[in-house]
Amino acid sequence: MLGFSTRAIRASSRAPEAPQPPVNVPIYQTSTFEVGSATELADLLEFATPGHSYSRYSNPTHAALEDALADLEGAEAALVTASGMAAMHAVLLSALRAGDELLIPRAVYGGMVGLATSVLERSGIGHRSVDTTDADAVEAAIGERTRLLWLETISNPTTAVADIRHLSELAHRRDVMVVVDSTFASPFLANPLNLGADLVVHSTTKYIGGHSDLTGGAVVGSAEHVTAARHVAITVGGNAAPLEAFLALRGLKTLALRMERHSANALAVAAALEVAPGIASVRYPGLASHPQHELAMRTLRDGMAGGMLAVELDGGRASGERFLDRVRVAVHATSLGSVETLVSHPASSSHRQLDDAGLAAAGLAPGMIRVSVGLEDAADLVEDLVGAARPPT
Ligand SMILES: Cc1ncc(COP(=O)(O)O)c(C=O)c1O
Repeated sequence: MLGFSTRAIRASSRAPEAPQPPVNVPIYQTSTFEVGSATELADLLEFATPGHSYSRYSNPTHAALEDALADLEGAEAALVTASGMAAMHAVLLSALRAGDELLIPRAVYGGMVGLATSVLERSGIGHRSVDTTDADAVEAAIGERTRLLWLETISNPTTAVADIRHLSELAHRRDVMVVVDSTFASPFLANPLNLGADLVVHSTTKYIGGHSDLTGGAVVGSAEHVTAARHVAITVGGNAAPLEAFLALRGLKTLALRMERHSANALAVAAALEVAPGIASVRYPGLASHPQHELAMRTLRDGMAGGMLAVELDGGRASGERFLDRVRVAVHATSLGSVETLVSHPASSSHRQLDDAGLAAAGLAPGMIRVSVGLEDAADLVEDLVGAARPPT
C-alpha cells in the first residue's frame, strides 16, 4: 500500500476525462505534461509531434487562444506571449540580426523606442525613425541594411493611421518585411495581413482582453514567421500564462460588441471635445478633421474608428496635469482598451524623459491627453471630459 502522501499527490493529479466537451476552454494550470517515453518527450520539445511537454513551450489553453487569433486575423499561425512587449521582442529578435536595421514610425508606442534603443542596439541592430504617414519619406529611409518596417494600424498615442497596403507594396519591392502592431485596432477593426503585412502583433492586454485584468501579447502570421518568433519566446521565457490566455479567450467573445460601443462612444466624445473650450485640437480617425480620415474609413471596419483619442489642451503640461486631477468618471491610469475610460498624459508619464523639443520630434504636444474611451454612457463621458478640459476662470 502506498503511503498517504504518495496517494494524495497521485490522486489529486488525475485529470478527469471529459466525454462532453466543456463549453469554455479549461485553464490548463500546469507547468508540465506526463510523457510516455524519452522519444516522445524529445519529439514534443522539437514540435515534431502534436501535443505539449512543458508550458514554456506550449500549453492547451495557449494553443486555443493561438487558434482563435489566427482565425480572426486570417492567418496560418499565432503565438501568444507574456505581454505585448514579449511579442514585439520575439518578432524583432527572430527577424533581425547584428548589422540589420529597422524603420519605426516617428510617433510610435514608447515601449518600441525602449526596445530599439536598450535591447536591439546592444545586439548590433540599428533603427531609424520615419514619418510613416509619408510614403516618400519611408521609401527614402530604406537603406542597404533595412530589413524590417514596423507600423501601427492606428498609432499610439497620436492616432495616425498607416497606409498598410501601400507601404507593404513599397517595402516588399525592397525586400523589407512589414510588421504591424494592430493593438489599437484589434482583429475586429482591421486585418493587416489582408492588406499585405507579413506579421501582426497585438498587446492582448488591451482590447482583446478588454477588462484591465490580464497582461498578454500575440504574434500572428505565416507558420514560418510564427515558428521563428516562438523559438525566441521559448528561449527567453516570453511565454503566456494559462489564466491570462483564458481571460483573453473570454474577451474575444465580446470583442465585436465592445469595439462597436468603443467606436460609437469615442466618436460622440471626440465630436463634443472638438468644439469645447480649453481644447486646441482633437485627433480621432473617425472625425473628418483627422489627417488620415479617408484612409481610416477605407482601412477600418464599417466606418468605425476604435476608442482612442489624442486631445491637445490649451496651456501645455500644466493643463494636462490639471485635466487628470479633475476627471471623475474617467480613470487616470496607464493602459487602454478596457471597459472603463482611461486617461493619461504622455508628457508626464510614458514620454516623461522628453523635453518639449523631444516631444515635438515624437509628434507629441506637452498638453496632449490620451483618452481610451470605454463603454460607459456617452453623455457621462462627455460631461466629465468637457468639464475637465474647461480653462480655469
Ligand atoms: C500599441 C501598443 N503596443 C504594444 C504595447 C505593449 O503591450 P504590453 O503592455 O502588453 O506589453 C502597448 C502597451 O501599451 C501598446 O499600446
